[in-house]
Amino acid sequence: MRLKEEIENLKKRKNIAILAHNYQLDEIQRVADIVGDSLELSLKSMKLDVDTIIFAGVKFMAEQVKVLNMEKRILMPDPGAICSLAHMISKEIVVEYKKKFPEAPLVIYVNAPTEIKALADYVVTSANAADLVARLDEDIILFGPDANLADHVAQKTGKKVIPVPPMGHCYVHLLITIYDVKKAKQKYPDAPIIVHPEVPREVRKFADYIGSTGQMIKIVRNINAKRILIGTETGMIYRLKREFPNKEFIPIVENAVCIGMKKNTLEKILYSLQNEVYEVDVKPSVANNVRKAILRTFEVLGLSLIHI
Ligand code: 13P
Ligand code: SF4
Repeated sequence: MRLKEEIENLKKRKNIAILAHNYQLDEIQRVADIVGDSLELSLKSMKLDVDTIIFAGVKFMAEQVKVLNMEKRILMPDPGAICSLAHMISKEIVVEYKKKFPEAPLVIYVNAPTEIKALADYVVTSANAADLVARLDEDIILFGPDANLADHVAQKTGKKVIPVPPMGHCYVHLLITIYDVKKAKQKYPDAPIIVHPEVPREVRKFADYIGSTGQMIKIVRNINAKRILIGTETGMIYRLKREFPNKEFIPIVENAVCIGMKKNTLEKILYSLQNEVYEVDVKPSVANNVRKAILRTFEVLGLSLIHI
């Protein structure tokens, strides 16, 4: 409790905003000014009237916020909070696939290193990947680094979506197997199933709804069910319980925990506030190229970054 108060006081005194991803611990989500999925956090960060943001999530997300807010200082409570999926793609892999498929646009999922996003034609999140690919003129698309999301996009759009690399995956979402889903459904036959598109195809096939963590909230708001099975990182359950206290949320797999996300703690957030560390750095030329790819993406989606 004292820790929470100290954080609240210090962030007010220093005019620092805290952003937290939906997978953060409940106590972190509760001290945050904005809680959301990777798309919401990066877009809402642009509207904040602060010089400094503490980002409780993983590195690629903090860097994405920096790319859109070069004038602001972005701090991470633990610079070791990384996403293992992001590091499954490299410049060499991109060059190899671009050589093989020179006409195919390169669509990069936000869960990738910032330097790789700088090479992309389009940068998407799980909330808008299928929509973007559906609107492109091309029928053959290079998509990386998550092969399950690439497969989901292919199924949704009917296009040939080539995963770059072929087996890029999130280990947390691979913990959610068809065996777990069937077991949960047997126990709670009336509960609808909502999963993140990073789960494998056979799990998605069994699900009633598929969406980003932000979309999960919208889905829950629009369905009548009292009890819902959730297939994603378990931090999402805290967010859902807070938003919908009268509903019951059951994780399909209780140990689907992202080590990178869970590196953040309230103690580290306080340290970060007190010492104004650890600053995220993105080269201006890299940020410029990523911004161009994001703007291109928004243009195809018929959205304007300014009006969001
Ligand atoms: P969202 O964009 O849905 O929040 O997902 C981020 C993520 O890391 C999924 O594992
Ligand atoms: Fe990366 Fe998976 Fe963790 Fe999301 S849950 S941040 S994709 S490792």
